[in-house]
Amino acid sequence: MAQWKPQGIWLDGKVRPWDQATIHVLSPTVKYGVAVFEGIRAYWNPERGRMLVFRLEEHSRRLVQSARMMRMENPYAPEDISRAVLETLRELDPRCDVHIRALLMVSGDGPMTARGPVSLAIAALERGRPPGFEQGIRCQISSWRRISDEVMPPRIKCTANYHNGRLAALEAKANGYDQALLLNSRGELAEAPGACVFLVRAGQLITPPVTDDILESITRETVLILWQEWQGRSGAVRPVDRTELYVADEVFLCGTAAEITPVIQVDDLEVGDGVPGPITRKLQSLYLAAVRGEDSRHHSWCTEV
Ligand SMILES: Cc1ncc(COP(=O)(O)O)c(C=O)c1O
Repeated sequence: MAQWKPQGIWLDGKVRPWDQATIHVLSPTVKYGVAVFEGIRAYWNPERGRMLVFRLEEHSRRLVQSARMMRMENPYAPEDISRAVLETLRELDPRCDVHIRALLMVSGDGPMTARGPVSLAIAALERGRPPGFEQGIRCQISSWRRISDEVMPPRIKCTANYHNGRLAALEAKANGYDQALLLNSRGELAEAPGACVFLVRAGQLITPPVTDDILESITRETVLILWQEWQGRSGAVRPVDRTELYVADEVFLCGTAAEITPVIQVDDLEVGDGVPGPITRKLQSLYLAAVRGEDSRHHSWCTEV
């Protein structure tokens, strides 16, 4: 089937033609990366004939928190962001799984310290399962370290932060891997360039804490809830050593875009049997049921468009 083509992008109050969704080349966003954003997914539910936005409230709240930490003069409350996302989807009317980009930018042509004016853009593009969802991906521990809370806080979902993940991803690809994993400045596992990381060891689910220089991922929290419901016990949230990745039975990435992506190799060592493991597979199916509105315990996570 042909790829769905959005008719435009919402910018500062309305959907505009694709080519007109622009900001000035001298804006602090272009010069200094003074922008914060969210990647949000909406899923097509064919039985209901509706689009469902996954955990919209949480994404809108995190976007506003990011703008606040960046000292941006942001006129939008979380409810305004959610309303604009829904309005965009109603107007563009996709009938497929989409990835939504919501972006707060310091536009205008001010200096590095400019805090406004702030523009809001919302775009949606068709996006199915992530690469490697079925077969898994091969990851390399990066020679780059994850940025830290005292330098460029990864808790802020700021565009400038992605320079760090970009260097790591490019290095991994140049070395023949699919993706990078970053250690933090203390040498513990942090995260991938655009996703958090889980390990399975002896039947226990393990993930680094939010104080180990990671984004406070909404999917990570979702996975911990799905695990608790499935297993009747909590996942372990604790620092993870590099070599634990080498002895783990299963490893996977999680994120809005990555959903649950199995990792089948770390550096030159296979993870487990070198194929996606049963716990990763089960969590994939629990996750897809939740995002598609098929899990009655979690209808509140899905906002109908
Ligand atoms: C650096 C980073 N870590 C983790 C994640 C996963 O976060 P979430 O599950 O909220 O999408 C993302 C994706 O947004 C990310 O960019």
